[in-house]
Amino acid sequence: TSTEQLVIPSRSPNNTVAILTLNRPKALNALSTPLFQALNAELEKAEQDDSVRAIVITGGEKVFAAGADIKEMKDKEFAEAYTTNFLGSWNKIASIRKPIIGAVAGYALGGGCELAMLSDILIATPTATFAQPEITLGIIPGMGGSQRLTSLVGKARAMDMVLTGRKIDGITAERWGLVSRLTKEGESVVELAVKTAETVGGFGKVAVQAGKEAVNAALDLPLDQGLRLERRLFQQLFATQDQKEGMTAFAEKRKATWSDK
Ligand code: HXC
Repeated sequence: TSTEQLVIPSRSPNNTVAILTLNRPKALNALSTPLFQALNAELEKAEQDDSVRAIVITGGEKVFAAGADIKEMKDKEFAEAYTTNFLGSWNKIASIRKPIIGAVAGYALGGGCELAMLSDILIATPTATFAQPEITLGIIPGMGGSQRLTSLVGKARAMDMVLTGRKIDGITAERWGLVSRLTKEGESVVELAVKTAETVGGFGKVAVQAGKEAVNAALDLPLDQGLRLERRLFQQLFATQDQKEGMTAFAEKRKATWSDK
């Protein structure tokens, strides 16, 4: 129903991490247009809120997201999809400058896998399930599954996933480089993601944003341009108080206090 809260925002205990929980359990968190609008609105709020230093996106214990909403897409026609820029708004996440940590338990299928790949750091349980099953529906991935997945796992594995729709578990996803950390037995994926978000959020904002920008540039730019961008950002950081503080604190054998300047 329209009164359902499709994305539940909460905060970490120290209040610096915005936790956005996809909440459409009856449809296995299928990513309908209203759900995506709610997610984008919460992302924008978190981006604007100075008290938020990092963002965690998660789903439920059994399902992160089972993909785009198939029932919503079923009767779509080309003209409508094209003129309304269907899926265009999904790319909003890519424009968020704060670090985003994805926390995946259970299914991350199709658009769910693509949403997970839009995180800057992706954490999963060993039993999570990743797949791009679009081929079984007569379509292909539409939000990065053919592009980001290929950068992450390479052509052979991306082609295998996209053309067969095969499911891989969290352990395989970690081995392939789709995921960077797995939870240990009994560990909560959200707690591990929040801990990671607090680590990242605990560093100076300027350097964190520059690090994110530089790594993302590697996916877009030819090597020489990427290296030039990295060097410029690196050099610019010497104009920050945080660089002076970080290096002085090291020399003085004390903990740095970041000013975000
Ligand atoms: C709409 C969905 C859905 C989806 C599940 N449901 N996935 N509704 N879109 N993607 C609904 C079911 O219809 C069902 O509704 C309810 O959620 C519970 O699902 P079940 O199938 O009964 O659960 P289960 O048997 O446990 O199977 C779980 C599952 C299966 C393996 C995850 O639901 C599944 O295969 N779902 C589709 C996965 C998929 O193909 N994803 C890719 C979508 S295409 P009712 O009303 O019957 O209770 C895509 C394109 C991306 O993502 C393009 C760019 C964005």
